[in-house]
Amino acid sequence: MPCDRVNRLLKSYVDELTTGHSRKGLETVFEKVVEPTVDKGPRFRLKAMGDRNFLRMNSNSYLGLSLQRDIIVAEEDAVRACGTGPGAVRFISGTWAMHTELEQTLAAFHQREAAMLFSSAYATMMGVLPALITDSTAVISDALNHNCIINAISLGKPTVKSIYPHLEMIQLESALAEAVTTCDRAIIVTDGIFSMRGDHAPLKEIMALAGEYDVRFSENVLVVVDDSHGVGAFGKHGRGTEEYTDSPQVDLLIGTLGKAFGVNGGYVTGPASIIDYLREVSPFYIYSNPITPGEAAAAHRAVNVVDSDKGQQLLTTLRQRTHEFEQGVKQLGFETIASEHPVVPLMIRDTGRTTALVRHLFNNNILATGITYPVVPEGDEEIRFQVSADHTEDDIAEVLDALGRFTD
Ligand SMILES: Cc1ncc(COP(=O)(O)O)c(C=O)c1O
Repeated sequence: MPCDRVNRLLKSYVDELTTGHSRKGLETVFEKVVEPTVDKGPRFRLKAMGDRNFLRMNSNSYLGLSLQRDIIVAEEDAVRACGTGPGAVRFISGTWAMHTELEQTLAAFHQREAAMLFSSAYATMMGVLPALITDSTAVISDALNHNCIINAISLGKPTVKSIYPHLEMIQLESALAEAVTTCDRAIIVTDGIFSMRGDHAPLKEIMALAGEYDVRFSENVLVVVDDSHGVGAFGKHGRGTEEYTDSPQVDLLIGTLGKAFGVNGGYVTGPASIIDYLREVSPFYIYSNPITPGEAAAAHRAVNVVDSDKGQQLLTTLRQRTHEFEQGVKQLGFETIASEHPVVPLMIRDTGRTTALVRHLFNNNILATGITYPVVPEGDEEIRFQVSADHTEDDIAEVLDALGRFTD
């Protein structure tokens, strides 16, 4: 066996993770959805768990759109009309009308000139950021940015990379001031919503700083925002962190179709000239399949739902349930991070207690995600709850009741 020694090394790596209870590969396996009733939202059946019905508090489908009938039908119709896969990458074999129509709708939804689809938001960030980094670019990034931003910066190899402490605008400004002396272009990159905490970037202030320093860079200061958890779930009309913070439009906005829109895929939206450029140079777009025509049709329907009265009602329900849950956990004495966003973290700050509480919730048929070291720094261990518009008042009460019964 030519790879026996490397096999041994990799196996011992995984064995150590198993011993340390931090193996990501040991995933929960869902088998089916149990339809909602008047007072209960959807429940989920898990492999090897018999007829236990689990309440899911760890889904990114914030508006419940992944289970919505007309979105499912839109996908089914498109699959029947066009088949399952996209067939090939777009520039070689052509694209489906579903892709171009969705791009136009996304651009209009965000009031931008153009939008461009990728297979995921992760692939979008990897495809966009390095393509904008030149030999004379400074990249300035929040310390808690998502892993896709960290890897996109590594791929882009900027001459100057500045990481500012989470949300600290004074340090962001210092990084800009320093970059003026060495770089022609600066790119500020941040998450809109920070997915582990539910807090958000102060986009209005970031845009003001970018505006102030812009004239001092011959190739501008660009602001690139990944609002994967914000779009569809945050802001009065679901436009995300930009809307919530009343910020001017950022230069490039990256979103996902796989969270609040309930489908799959990613996109970037912004000026047509930049989008045209990215279609020519971005390998994650040029050399990789797009989402399927069925996914594009479903996502198109989902964007239209968010933009309708029904979308407004779902957003109102989502805010209401989030408020009920947040108030409830505070009354129970848990520490959380206050936010209108449906990510509600319980800051447990201890690995053993986090694991015990996640187990207690599971024993009470509730799924929530424990986040422990090394995903977060030691002392920041938490349980991440994600509220959804398809949770009922009773569902929220059920989770609070289980939390209230937890004893160490
Ligand atoms: C900020 C951010 N960007 C990107 C992603 C990945 O999204 P996708 O699943 O569409 O690649 C996530 C998902 O957790 C995220 O939080």
